[in-house]
Amino acid sequence: MTIFALLTALLPLALQSLIPASSHQRQQDAVCLQIQEDISPASTVYFPGDDRYTAGIMHWASSSSENSICVVEPGSSEDVAAVRTSFAVKGGGHASNVGFSSTTGVQIAMSRISDVKYDAHSQTAEIGAGLKWDDVYAALEAHNVSVVGGRVSGVGVAGFTLGEGGFNNFGIVTKFTLKTFPSKGVWGGFQYVAGTDLAQNAAAVADFCANVTDPKANIISNYGKGYMIYLHLCLLACDDTNSFLRRPKSPPPGIFDNLLAVPTLFSDVSSRNMTSFVKLVPDSIGLRGAFHTVPILKFTPSLLDVIANESAFWGTKLAPKGAGLITYAIEPFQPDIYEHNPDKTAYPPVRDVGYLPLNLYFAWVSAEFDEDFHAAMIASGEVIRQAAIAEGQDITNGPLYPNYAFPETPLSEIYGENVAELRRIKQIVDPKDIMGLAGGSKF
Ligand SMILES: *[C@@H]1O[C@H](CO)[C@@H](O)[C@H](O)[C@H]1NC(C)=O
Ligand SMILES: *[C@@H]1O[C@H](CO)[C@@H](O)[C@H](O)[C@H]1NC(C)=O
Ligand SMILES: *[C@@H]1O[C@H](CO)[C@@H](O)[C@H](O)[C@H]1NC(C)=O
Ligand SMILES: *[C@@H]1O[C@H](CO)[C@@H](O)[C@H](O)[C@H]1NC(C)=O
Repeated sequence: MTIFALLTALLPLALQSLIPASSHQRQQDAVCLQIQEDISPASTVYFPGDDRYTAGIMHWASSSSENSICVVEPGSSEDVAAVRTSFAVKGGGHASNVGFSSTTGVQIAMSRISDVKYDAHSQTAEIGAGLKWDDVYAALEAHNVSVVGGRVSGVGVAGFTLGEGGFNNFGIVTKFTLKTFPSKGVWGGFQYVAGTDLAQNAAAVADFCANVTDPKANIISNYGKGYMIYLHLCLLACDDTNSFLRRPKSPPPGIFDNLLAVPTLFSDVSSRNMTSFVKLVPDSIGLRGAFHTVPILKFTPSLLDVIANESAFWGTKLAPKGAGLITYAIEPFQPDIYEHNPDKTAYPPVRDVGYLPLNLYFAWVSAEFDEDFHAAMIASGEVIRQAAIAEGQDITNGPLYPNYAFPETPLSEIYGENVAELRRIKQIVDPKDIMGLAGGSKF
């Protein structure tokens, strides 16, 4: 499925020793200048001050960006392996954890590896690791097909996909081959609901979670600051023949009725293409940000009340500290979500229980308050976890979804009993631990 350009090169110390002792700045430059000599004309090294440097280190959350010594934009798999010092690999730049795809060493920006090649015969698409899902959906729309990927603008293909695999532990992936499915677009959009209608909304969301089994229909219910929630409704396709061949003009009865009956402050739910749907949420708002997650088995009305209260409580409490967004996203996938893939994957370590990754996303203005927001997210996650346990949900050993987990999360809380095997694989494919030069959760 993937092509690994494994880094089989020397460790950085060998390279560092070639560099005469001099100022830090000159040493840094020397490392990058050496890379510049080693790579082919397909690739380029950019230095601070260059627009491509700025774009190369840029992350969706400003707190996940670091000033690297240079940016390397590889144009071929071979050139990906030219970097032999501390580095980070950036696909779309949507990691919420600092150091996962950012570095003060060499930033590898995959942006140039951006082909989308659709093969109608095999119904697959080869997708370059530098792409965001926005670009992938747009390219595939021309062929009336789509792929399963990110739900909001700005999410990269690489981090999203490798978040269920081994992240950057095994090498650098330059290309993904994904299965396509026929698609003419979706019916969906936003619905904003006022705080006064939260109870009716919670009942409708809980009903959807408990009773809708059409795998093509889903919602994301976001509690934001407690005074308002918005729903991201989506129906991939559902016409009378239950096929994907026509864009759904409207949903069949019984799926979204209760949700659509909730009074709204604003709604733009409509029949649309996937590009327009994903762009409803803007790519970057330039704020600092973090994710946190709690594995949930069932979103009941009472648990939704707890979540609503948490968003109101922390929205108010953190407002004086420059809170931008305080959101809790309810993502009610079908309970059999993990049963479709018979192959073993790094995450989730258990496939027979459908843990739903509740997403906490807090965004704020200033680095001065990083610790306050971090502590608040931990405290809030714990309140929700305890509330779910008190309702009888067996989530004590529920694995944490890697792309939402804090950087300090122990590997066993993400990968469970898979950790030992992942370490064994790591030993085999990267015995010199070249990928140890890059940050992130390490096996
Ligand atoms: C995609 O669908 C549209 C509208 O149904 C049609 O006009 C067009 O020919 C299709 N394109 C391809 C490549 O099949
Ligand atoms: C699911 O549907 C049944 C039957 O209509 C209803 O009694 C139940 O309340 C629904 N569940 C939720 C959580 O709304
Ligand atoms: C998708 O919809 C938007 C908004 O209606 C439109 O501007 C765009 O051209 C559409 N894209 C495709 C590939 O049809
Ligand atoms: C709301 O949440 C806060 C913070 O977790 C908690 O202290 C408070 O008791 C909660 N209020 C209600 C009504 O549950």
